[in-house]
Amino acid sequence: MTEHLEIKGLKKVFKTDDDEVVAIEDFSLTVKKGELISLLGPSGCGKTTILRLIAGLIESSGGEVLVAGNSVSGPGSDRGMVFQEFALFPWRSVRKNIEFGLELSGIPKAERHTRANEYLEMVGLERFANSRIHELSGGMKQRVGIARALANDPEVLLMDEPFGALDAQTRNIMQKELLKIIEKTDKTILFVTHSVDEAVFLSDRIVVLTKRPATIKEIIDVPWPRPRDRASPDVTAMRKRILDELEKENVMIG
Ligand SMILES: Nc1ncnc2c1ncn2[C@@H]1O[C@H](COP(=O)(O)OP(=O)(O)O)[C@@H](O)[C@H]1O
Ligand SMILES: [Mg+2]
Repeated sequence: MTEHLEIKGLKKVFKTDDDEVVAIEDFSLTVKKGELISLLGPSGCGKTTILRLIAGLIESSGGEVLVAGNSVSGPGSDRGMVFQEFALFPWRSVRKNIEFGLELSGIPKAERHTRANEYLEMVGLERFANSRIHELSGGMKQRVGIARALANDPEVLLMDEPFGALDAQTRNIMQKELLKIIEKTDKTILFVTHSVDEAVFLSDRIVVLTKRPATIKEIIDVPWPRPRDRASPDVTAMRKRILDELEKENVMIG
């Protein structure tokens, strides 16, 4: 088995009382271990829905998702999710947020502590282990979100516009931090973004989506080693090409 994450013919129809919304239609993608894939697409095209389907948070209307060869039928510790709005537990300390999934898995206290320390260090929050969430800046909150997702040692990390709520400078710092974490953990990552710049800076491959229902318009290989220089001619040219294409489609990204 070479593919680490396989998505086959995924479909999602949302049914309301008097309406049906086809959010995802025939979406197929295979991701290798350690790959970072960005999903780039217009607002409302179905990006979050794709991640929620893979996470097992909602049921699909067709198709299949396999993680390390196992068919997904609900939430599981083999997938970790990082949310745009952080979605942390405000009544828990930073450490207790990171330990949450480990508690659910019944990991004993001493081991939870050791593992939380490892991830606190990885995201640079050792000194804030006992802080409350409301005491943290946006960037720090998302560090907790990333550490919480990594603490379960998931096969696949699902990141839904994780830096979208941060200011530009913090976003750039967090992108570089994420690259360091990837080097250490070799995680397979599906990263949703509406930023062409972010996608080109981070990804091994960029999956450009159509308007709803989300289908794949194009898959772009980003061949250069990381960290990348945003101002280099190659990177700039790729950014421009993608933006031009999206403009041609008259698509608003976001
Ligand atoms: N629970 C739901 N019930 C009905 N429609 C939904 C639900 N969740 C998402 N949708 C619709 O599905 C489409 C895709 O949504 P979403 O995946 O959130 O898009 P994106 O993350 O790309 O902005 C949108 O039209 C949205 O309104
Ligand atoms: Mg979304």
